[in-house]
Amino acid sequence: MDAFTVLLDGKAVNSCILLASLCAGRSIVTIEGLGDPEHLHPLQAAFVKHGAVQCGYCIPGMILTAKSYLDEHPDRTPSRDEIREAISGTLCRCTGYQKIIDAIAAVAAERAEKGAQDNAP
Ligand code: FES
Repeated sequence: MDAFTVLLDGKAVNSCILLASLCAGRSIVTIEGLGDPEHLHPLQAAFVKHGAVQCGYCIPGMILTAKSYLDEHPDRTPSRDEIREAISGTLCRCTGYQKIIDAIAAVAAERAEKGAQDNAP
């Protein structure tokens, strides 16, 4: 998954091989719909902060796949190997993946910390 990745009902899919008729009445979110320049989604902000973006071709796929994965696992913080597995369908020719994994891991850690604070007595 790369530039053509979208979230279909919250799950990352390849829009280029998806029949439009299967999308009727369903939620579709593109990378542009995730945030905007003034209000970046936490994953978008983390990718910028960690220097995880170079040419940008893979970034919609990376971010939307990461969002789908993190949303599917709301109660646990994934390991770096689990993050690597989650994004394994998206190829990046530029970054070497480490900064991308750093960014996703940072968002997962922030989410866990926030969840711990929200559940504090
Ligand atoms: Fe260029 Fe990933 S940033 S392909």
